[in-house]
Amino acid sequence: MCEGRVVIVTGAGRGLGRAHAVAFAAEGARVVVNDLGVALDGSPQADGPAEQVVARIRAAGGEAVAHGGDIASAEGAASLVRCALDHYGRLDTLVNNAGFLRDRMLVNLDEGAWDAVMRVHLKGHFLPLKHAAAWWRAEAKAGRQVAARVVNTSSGAGLLGSVGQGNYSAAKAGILGLTMVAAAEMGRYGVQVNAIAPAARTRMTEEAFAAAMAPPAEGEFDAMAPENVSPLVVWLGSDASAGVTGRVFEAEGGRITVMEGWRPGPTADRGARWSPAEAGEAALKLLSASTAPLPPYGAE
Ligand SMILES: NC(=O)c1ccc[n+]([C@@H]2O[C@H](COP(=O)([O-])OP(=O)(O)OC[C@H]3O[C@@H](n4cnc5c(N)ncnc54)[C@H](O)[C@@H]3O)[C@@H](O)[C@H]2O)c1
Repeated sequence: MCEGRVVIVTGAGRGLGRAHAVAFAAEGARVVVNDLGVALDGSPQADGPAEQVVARIRAAGGEAVAHGGDIASAEGAASLVRCALDHYGRLDTLVNNAGFLRDRMLVNLDEGAWDAVMRVHLKGHFLPLKHAAAWWRAEAKAGRQVAARVVNTSSGAGLLGSVGQGNYSAAKAGILGLTMVAAAEMGRYGVQVNAIAPAARTRMTEEAFAAAMAPPAEGEFDAMAPENVSPLVVWLGSDASAGVTGRVFEAEGGRITVMEGWRPGPTADRGARWSPAEAGEAALKLLSASTAPLPPYGAE
């Protein structure tokens, strides 16, 4: 499905990113495997996971190159796109996936943990997207046909909120907004931008959600394997998904769900300014006619 395409996957040294990189290579893509190699909380941990994934892809007969930069830094993001262009002369698909967690209840969440998580997820999506988009726009303006794809990684935490993950939920919700804007701005250059909210057993979830992530009994479908999420990502990242942009999918096990986002519900317009008491009365009436939101993950 991806013969001839060049694909960047960020944070592809382990977990979901590794599964995506291997799946793209198996479909014929040449893959830039990015990973800074950090611990679950983002602290340094030089174990070279990107090189290991590249070795695995090459051993299976695929083509891949490692990039070890920080995708949330201007230089890391610029050199990532340069890496694809220098090695393979083109870029077709960007999968933004890298990130880490620093979970705390809001009252205990310090500024450093807020900044680090917003930086790695939100800025770590924006910067590679910006550099890739600049190249695709230049290609389109030079008259070359562009069929570029971006797959961003949100989370159920971004869609509904997740107790104890205020920083992460805000960053992942921000990625949804970024996805909508990028899809609207980049469509004219031949770039499609979608987002996924995955769930899988990785170091991010295997302890925090141990029960839900438990491995299956012998011979049963391993619903929580990260490899289950990758087929949708590969399709979104391929030519075959032409016409699909600005959409959000949940992907987990054997299930794919199209998420339907904010849209106007019950509304009232009195054609003049409300008093606070009248506004409250109207709001209560509208709420009683509305569908209640789904609760955040972990809410009592
Ligand atoms: N596992 C799940 O169930 C789940 C659910 C929802 C969303 N997600 C999202 O999926 C993505 C992948 O998560 P995962 O579960 O595979 O986690 P993971 O920890 O296994 O993999 C994340 C990778 O990103 C790398 N990374 C971190 N900061 C980086 C940086 N600045 N530059 C480059 N690489 C960096 C890490 O070294 C790591 O290898 C994340 O964005 C995560 O928030 C995961």
